[in-house]
Amino acid sequence: MKKVITYGTFDLFHQGHYNIIKRAKELGDYLIVGVTSESYDIERGKLNVRDSLLKRIENVRKTGFADEIIIEEYQGQKVSDIIKYNIDILVVGSDWRGKFDYLKNYCEVRYLERTKNISSTQLRGEGTIYSVGVVTDDSNDSGIVVESKFVSGVHVESVFSQDQTVAEEFCEKYELDSYSTDYEKFLSSLDIVYIKPELKNRAAYIEKAIEKGKYVISDSPMTLEPETLKGLFAKAVEHKVVLVEKIMLVYLRAFNQLVWLTHGDLVGKVVSVKCAISQDDFDGGKTFNETVVYAICAIIKLLGMKCTEVTSNPVKDENGKFIYDMITMKYPGALATIEIGSTVDIENELVVIGSKGRVTIPNDWWNTGYFEAKVEGREFLKRYSFNFEGNGFRYLLQELMIMISDKRTECTRLFYEESQALVQILKKINQRG
Ligand code: CTP
Repeated sequence: MKKVITYGTFDLFHQGHYNIIKRAKELGDYLIVGVTSESYDIERGKLNVRDSLLKRIENVRKTGFADEIIIEEYQGQKVSDIIKYNIDILVVGSDWRGKFDYLKNYCEVRYLERTKNISSTQLRGEGTIYSVGVVTDDSNDSGIVVESKFVSGVHVESVFSQDQTVAEEFCEKYELDSYSTDYEKFLSSLDIVYIKPELKNRAAYIEKAIEKGKYVISDSPMTLEPETLKGLFAKAVEHKVVLVEKIMLVYLRAFNQLVWLTHGDLVGKVVSVKCAISQDDFDGGKTFNETVVYAICAIIKLLGMKCTEVTSNPVKDENGKFIYDMITMKYPGALATIEIGSTVDIENELVVIGSKGRVTIPNDWWNTGYFEAKVEGREFLKRYSFNFEGNGFRYLLQELMIMISDKRTECTRLFYEESQALVQILKKINQRG
């Protein structure tokens, strides 16, 4: 019996996929199709796959040509599959010509002509390039320019600043096409605006950009006023645009997995969440509000929005300058604490303590692919590690591209009501002495 194998992502299943599977089957008696897993695709930098693994498998199954469907989960799996399943022919599309010649020692390798004028990339609408502009009042990038190079379909083209020198410097430093000190003019040529000037000016810039129908990414917090935030979200819905708050934490696979496992009873009932974060280590020394939002966000994701009491205990130095705070957030049956400070030695860490164990993200927990769990009955630490590249901005941009093409206005990584709960807590903290 002649056994054939072929692999693919098979996202947004199309005629090209159907044809290659059909022709692969015709080359033998038994066809195995390998469908890539989500984690493998992310691992190899394919961040934009739309259909779930189950849906992609189902679409392959529906062709009726596959005798067996397997999942491709890691680099190097093809060799072991060929040996394991005793494969005679490996089939791939001509776009891969030469790439799999190294497998010729194990089986015959056939490159079949691709079906013309169709691809998943094309169907995902990635042919369109969205132009991005940055609104700033300093000439540091925060990663959007560098990170956008890893995301297909976006190009950072211009910068706006009220200060002409800053605009000019930024433009030159990051080799953008243009700079501007006229906000209306700047907005007119763009699809997406990234807003990162100081907090007190953000809401006004966001509002204007939304009114002009632009998609907006803003540094967090967008405002300290819950009512203003509500208004901004309402405006985004009215103008059918996306307003995304830049809290990278919610785009990190490790953090999402931690939340998911915690909600799935990994450590039993959660009793305490402890976040320690140093303003000096966080993203190059951010302000108190810009730093503390990450901790509040982590707590909301882990314990929910029903925080019953917030207390803040700021410590100041002899000049009256804030240096340290231990914030507590009470929940029914649980307590969260945020240890935050500047110029004092805070050991960054996120710990979730449950009735059956604890999960820890050591060090820079807001920017990581790693966490570990110590669970009752298990002698050893269980370590979880996920691929994580750059500063995380690329994952946010990728999600934004998907939201735009799906015509969604609300970000499912951080819902409007979560953002609003966050600002309410932030406001309470800021009302301290
Ligand atoms: N394929 C093909 N003809 C096409 C598109 C894909 O023969 N028009 C083949 C590929 O060469 C590959 C298999 O189908 O052997 C699975 O391809 P996959 O990468 O999942 O599909 P693409 O449409 O190429 O996806 P993308 O645009 O994301 O690269």
